[in-house]
Amino acid sequence: HRAAALEAMSRLVVDVPDYPQPGVVFKDITPLLADHDGFHAAILALAESGRDESGTVVVDKVLGMEARGFILAAPVALDLEAGFVPVRKAGKLPRACLSESYALEYGTATLEMHVDAVQPGDRVLLVDDVLATGGTIAATRRLVADAGGVVVGAAVLMELGFLQGRRVLDDVPCTALMEI
Ligand code: PRP
Repeated sequence: HRAAALEAMSRLVVDVPDYPQPGVVFKDITPLLADHDGFHAAILALAESGRDESGTVVVDKVLGMEARGFILAAPVALDLEAGFVPVRKAGKLPRACLSESYALEYGTATLEMHVDAVQPGDRVLLVDDVLATGGTIAATRRLVADAGGVVVGAAVLMELGFLQGRRVLDDVPCTALMEI
């Protein structure tokens, strides 16, 4: 699945220069999502991170981080026959939440998850579109730990290697389908 996903991403992820600010090249995944075969290949490749070598599913929950992570994590959860859990920006979830903040270039951001979304002992896979500075995955991992769950791994479409986000992920194994 990985080779098919990589081929589709090479063709269908579009570079947008100077978005959202000058000097940044934004990776637009919407053409990939709009292509059934490409989207499907990407989902199957991401879902491999939730299985062991024999193909057995090793996760109970798949967490997606707002907003693009939702699009990818939900179909991965269905493929793995696991539950889907949204991790949202502060103030968006209706019931009692666990909360974790992380540093941005200027200021901080806060991610939240319902207190009962991950149960003690749950094995969890984190899914997002991009690993950049690693702040999002690191904060989500703390949320899972607060809930008593265990992060089995993380899977992303793309890793911006020059930002060295892996440094803050500690021992979370992270699979990136493509490195930039
Ligand atoms: C982007 C991306 C990841 C995160 C990666 O989300 O979708 O979730 O940043 O960055 P990091 O590794 O430096 O934490 P963004 O915060 O732009 O949210 P959005 O998907 O709601 O636009």
